[in-house]
Amino acid sequence: MAGARRERAAVLCGLAGWVPPRIVTNDELSQRLDTSDAWIRTRTGIGQRHFADPGQATSDLAVEAGRRALAAADLPAPQGGPTAGLTEDRPVDAVVVATTTPDRSCPATAPLVAHRLGLTGVAALDVSAVCTGFVYGRAAAAGLITAGAASRVLLIGADTYSTIVDPDDRANAIIFGDGAGAVVLRAGYADEPGAVGHFDLGSDGAEEELIMVAAGGSRQRSLPGEPSRAERHFAMQGKAVFRHAITRMTASARASLTAADWKVDDVDHFVPHQANQRILRAVADDLGLPLERCISHVESVGNTGAASIPLALADAAAGNVIQPGDRVLLSAFGGGLTWGSCVLRWPALPSPTPSAPAAAQPVSVSEGGPHAS
Ligand code: UT7
Repeated sequence: MAGARRERAAVLCGLAGWVPPRIVTNDELSQRLDTSDAWIRTRTGIGQRHFADPGQATSDLAVEAGRRALAAADLPAPQGGPTAGLTEDRPVDAVVVATTTPDRSCPATAPLVAHRLGLTGVAALDVSAVCTGFVYGRAAAAGLITAGAASRVLLIGADTYSTIVDPDDRANAIIFGDGAGAVVLRAGYADEPGAVGHFDLGSDGAEEELIMVAAGGSRQRSLPGEPSRAERHFAMQGKAVFRHAITRMTASARASLTAADWKVDDVDHFVPHQANQRILRAVADDLGLPLERCISHVESVGNTGAASIPLALADAAAGNVIQPGDRVLLSAFGGGLTWGSCVLRWPALPSPTPSAPAAAQPVSVSEGGPHAS
C-alpha cells in the first residue's frame, strides 16, 4: 500500500544580508534636522542607519545580498527531474525581488539582478508590497515552487529608502535605512525543517493614502503640470500607520499561528518587520510573547523596508541567536495597506556572515529599550 503523499513546500536553504557601508548616526541627522538622538531613540529605538552612496541603486544592494545567499546556500547537486535545467553556475531557476524602490518604474529590477548574478534566462519578477514585500515575496516564491514553475528561487528583499525620503522631512528621514536581505528556497516537503508555510496575507486599499509616493505613476503622469517636491517624496501618516501596524501584525501573526496549529508559547523567535521598537514591543505584548523572543536590530539599521525581515534573520543566524529546530514566526506590515505572516521551523544552515561587521548585531526587545543579546 502506498504511504501518505508528502505535501510539497518551499524550503529555506540559504540566507544572507548586506547593508551599504555608509553609516548615518542620529547625531549626524540632528546636525541638519530639528531632532535629537534622544528623541529618535525614545520614539523609535533607532540609533543609526545605513545609506547607499549617490548613484547606488536597489539592484546594487540586491546583487550583493543575492550573491552572498547563493554562495552560502546548502544546495544538493541538481539530480535531473525538476532540477534538470540547473547547474552549479545556474543554481536557481527564478529570482524574485521585493522592493518599494525599484531601479526604474519600468522594467522590473529582478531581471537585471538575475543577469548581474550570472542568471540570465531565469524567471525574474518584482513584488511590490512595501514593507510586507518580503513575506509576500516568500508566498510568491513558494507558489512558484509548489506549482512546479521553479525548483529553486532566490528571493531578495531590497530597498533604498534614502532615494525616496525627503532628507528634510524629519518625521521620515530618521526612520528609514537602506539594505538588502536574501534567501534561497528549494523544492522540498512541508514536514522538513525550513519549510515555509501557513501564510496569512491581507490588504486594505481604502487606506492607501497613509503611505505613498504620490507622483511617478500613471495617476500623476496623465495629469498636466509638474509634481511638487512633496508629491515626489515618500509620505507617511505616522500616527495612523503606527496603530495599524500593531493591530494588523498582531492579528496576522495570530492567524498564521492558528493555521500552523502552534500556540504562542511554541514560538521560539518572533521576527516582525523592523518598523519601530515601540511597535515591535506592542505587538509582542499583544501576542503575549516574552520580549526576549522578539528579534530586532532596528537600533543598528532602522527600518529597511522589504529588507528588514531577511536582514534581521541573517544577523540573528550569524549571531547564533536562532538554532536549528527553533520555531520562527515572521510578520510584516506596510503600505497598501498590506500585511502578512508565515512560520517555519529553522533548518541547519551554513552560518551567514553578518550583513555589516560592526553594525547589524541582533538585539532583542526589552522593556528598557533595545539591548545586545
Ligand atoms: O514601515 C512601514 C511602517 N511604518 C511604521 O510603522 C512607522 C509608524 N510610525 C512611527 O513609527 C511613528 O509614528 C513616528 C516615529 C513616525 C513618529 O512618532 P510619534 O511618537 O508617533 O510622534 P508624532 O508623529 O506624534 O509626533 C510627536 C511630536 C510632534 O510635535 P508636536 O506636534 O507634538 O509639537 C512632531 O512634530 O514629535 C514631533 N516630531 C519630531 N520631533 C523631533 C516628529 N518627528 C520628529 C523628529 N524629531 N524626528
